Amino acid sequence: MKICVLPGDGIGPEIMAQAVRVLDALDLKLEMEEALLGGCAVDATGNPYPEATRKLARAADAVLLGAVGGPKWDALPREQRPERGLLGIRKDLNLFANLRPAILYPELANASSLKPEIVAGLDILIVRELTGDIYFGQPRGIETREVEGTPQRVGWNTMIYAEYEIRRILKVAFEAAQKRGKKLCSVDKMNVLECTQLWRDIADEMANDYPEVELSHMLVDNAAMQLVRAPKQFDVMVTGNMFGDILSDEASMLTGSIGMLPSASLDADNKGLYEPSHGSAPDIAGKNLANPLATILSAAMMLRYTFNQEAAAQRVENAVKKVLAQGYRTGDIFEPGTNKVGTREMGDAVLAAL
Ligand code: NAI
Ligand code: MG
Repeated sequence: MKICVLPGDGIGPEIMAQAVRVLDALDLKLEMEEALLGGCAVDATGNPYPEATRKLARAADAVLLGAVGGPKWDALPREQRPERGLLGIRKDLNLFANLRPAILYPELANASSLKPEIVAGLDILIVRELTGDIYFGQPRGIETREVEGTPQRVGWNTMIYAEYEIRRILKVAFEAAQKRGKKLCSVDKMNVLECTQLWRDIADEMANDYPEVELSHMLVDNAAMQLVRAPKQFDVMVTGNMFGDILSDEASMLTGSIGMLPSASLDADNKGLYEPSHGSAPDIAGKNLANPLATILSAAMMLRYTFNQEAAAQRVENAVKKVLAQGYRTGDIFEPGTNKVGTREMGDAVLAAL
């Protein structure tokens, strides 16, 4: 079980240190090796995704990433910016499946943007396709053309999904549903987009291979509405790149703090890149203020999806639940009456709970 550890920039090294401590404490045979990605890599080598990092990431079974970027590198040309390192590694490793769980821990019910009774107990997983759809479809562009007798600018993008792309993301979603609550909601816009009619047809075909999973379909506009009306009706949701971009951000806000949200991006063999959903938080970097739980929960996802260590994943998740129940809070989730701690102390508490 080889892990390429990329702390990155800003709060990245602080939160990663806590996740590594947690992994070390599990007594699994994990091999962890660190490398540079993002701004720190630009400073050291001039390249946000250096060759040495590429080699290590490709040789590893999983990549655990903190966050990249910060104002220090904002003035650089686009191809040297830290974010290019992140896009580079995602593409290089062919990470087409983005898994974003939205879990509301009962202790954080007041942090949600919805009423506690609507979100209490929320535990959904959004599976978003990450390398296709209208974001990548050709042709695309902005061009001046003759339209109804007058030249004007025309902009266009093309929504394209090939069958193999739809099948491989649906497979990830069906399998995730099978391991969870056995309900899969596939989100599309088949009433107006033929491309997504194909998506729906393939989902129906594949449902025969997963008899235990109850498949339903929902149009994306209704899905956006249902997520804030009655989010607990969902277990696993699966959708394309663009709809998934929007719905996963919407769902994340139901759970309160960005400092709590892990994510996974997987390839066809469940090799994956795991990272918190937040960025490098330069405003609080180096101050022992950042919440390390999103990174620790990302490490738990790594144990589950890449290493098939479900018991260890649950141990970590239960430890996080326990520290919240014990009242430990970093600044982003602090409320009067709870015990405010720093990054390291939150790591200590998780280790103690383990
Ligand atoms: P951000 O997520 O870094 O910060 C947004 C706000 O949330 C800030 O107030 C920050 O202090 C707070 N925050 C974030 N993570 C936290 C944590 N773990 N604990 C407590 N508070 C936390 O987003 P922002 O400010 O838009 O971007 C900062 C930098 O991060 C930029 O350079 C951006 O490009 C980069 N970025 C990198 C990402 C990645 O590496 N995947 C994703 C998003 C942004
Ligand atoms: Mg987004």
